[in-house]
Amino acid sequence: MSVVAVLTAAGSGTRLGHALPKALVPVRGERLVVHAARSLLAARGPDGPLVDELVVTAPAEHLDDVVSALDAVRAETRAPVRVVPGGATRQASVAAGLAALPGALEADAVVLVHDAARPFAPPDLVERVAAAVRSGHGAVVPGLPVTDTVKRVGPADLTAAQPVLATVERADLRAVQTPQGFRLGLLRDAHDEAVAHAHDESLAATDDAGLVERLGLDVWVVPGDERAAKITTARDLRVAELLGDA
Ligand code: CTP
Ligand code: MG
Repeated sequence: MSVVAVLTAAGSGTRLGHALPKALVPVRGERLVVHAARSLLAARGPDGPLVDELVVTAPAEHLDDVVSALDAVRAETRAPVRVVPGGATRQASVAAGLAALPGALEADAVVLVHDAARPFAPPDLVERVAAAVRSGHGAVVPGLPVTDTVKRVGPADLTAAQPVLATVERADLRAVQTPQGFRLGLLRDAHDEAVAHAHDESLAATDDAGLVERLGLDVWVVPGDERAAKITTARDLRVAELLGDA
């Protein structure tokens, strides 16, 4: 059974505030997208390297930079590594990555969707997600228990005092990471459905699993990993610089 991966790296990194798009920012001597590609390609399956093919989405105006950043990775692996332009949103970038996968792939192939913004996701996390899909779960996300107390407030205004509407039961919550894993046919259907309902903002989803949930299908959570933390702000980058994959 084939396993393919889409690595999203087409964002601009507005909140990071770096001169380069986030995926091209260096941390511990390598660009984020290089770390993230290496962790996907280092994962092992039952019979050797797990990932058969990697498609990376890049900012259209930095396509060549991403291609050359990945030269070393390409030389290290037997798996094809291709770079395609992403879209205006993360969802559009994933869709562009899916469209670039080989047409001959079977619908029950496993596709892993991973963010370059999580450069130190360990290979065993990648393996855990893929194994859960192979074992029969059509959509799998890694998640960690939430450690903060979480309260629900009214419409978002981050600058003013707001009344608390409720305290959410923390034991039931998981903070979800990538890579997320899917049967390819299922993820394609979920993205097609999202495009069909793009006019309805109440149906928007911030991750791929959210699109699958909208189809009314089950999504499973497997244990996540703190090392797969997302780099969003300059502070996150400094933490990653200090800790790397520790
Ligand atoms: N991404 C993408 N295409 C987009 C937007 C985001 O491929 N149009 C990717 C990013 O490169 C990143 C992942 O999706 O690896 C998660 O997005 P996020 O952390 O929000 O990154 P950015 O969108 O780059 O950052 P910001 O929202 O601060 O601009
Ligand atoms: Mg973003």
